Amino acid sequence: MNTTKERKFKPGKLFEPRDFKRPIIQQEQYLEIGAGKGMHAMQFAQANPDKHLIAIERTRAKFDVFAERAEDLSLNNLQAVHADAIPWVVHALPPQSLSGVFLLYPNPEPKNASQRWLNMPFFEFLISRMKPNVSLLLVTNIEEYFKEAIEVNGQTWKLEAEASEVPRDSARTHFEIKYLARGETCYQLKLTKPQHYKTDFDEWSLI
Ligand SMILES: C[S@@+](CC[C@H](N)C(=O)[O-])C[C@H]1O[C@@H](n2cnc3c(N)ncnc32)[C@H](O)[C@@H]1O
Repeated sequence: MNTTKERKFKPGKLFEPRDFKRPIIQQEQYLEIGAGKGMHAMQFAQANPDKHLIAIERTRAKFDVFAERAEDLSLNNLQAVHADAIPWVVHALPPQSLSGVFLLYPNPEPKNASQRWLNMPFFEFLISRMKPNVSLLLVTNIEEYFKEAIEVNGQTWKLEAEASEVPRDSARTHFEIKYLARGETCYQLKLTKPQHYKTDFDEWSLI
């Protein structure tokens, strides 16, 4: 199998998402991919009024619940987006625009290793959208996924890695609550982009 870096990401081939509206990117701009029904996104926005979060969810039914709850809360620092995050990020975000990224309990695609976030060529593009010294948080209940992410980061992406277990009383997302209630261990990988990190997409922008 070709390595992730050999399977180069080609952002220019991705069409603009349907009904795409270009967001106004804020100074303290955070991104959550796979926000589900938005529990973490709404808690984050309420707890951090000085930060702005764009939270993307692809599945219509989950997004509808998220969008309705977010509207009731009228948080002016949260934007809920219904889209596939990959083309959306390509069309919406300039390089070095994000102050943080959340990937909380992503679907690990057990049968398709190349569809896991750190194995995707898109991951380099995502890193290029992060400012230096900011972190991406990957959280999972699947130990093999966690270990593989640490290994792929060490071999390919070389971001600064900090691994830990999620405290048993944490309750950031619906999936986290479910897994911890079942007595499972959940794992967290904090990946920080070093100051002078380079990607092949640092100059690539549609904005
Ligand atoms: C297992 S759920 C976790 C949801 C939420 N983060 C939680 O912890 O409760 C993973 C979510 O990621 C979403 N997702 C997966 N790939 C995505 C993509 N490319 N763009 C947007 N959402 C995606 C799925 O639709 C699904 O709702």
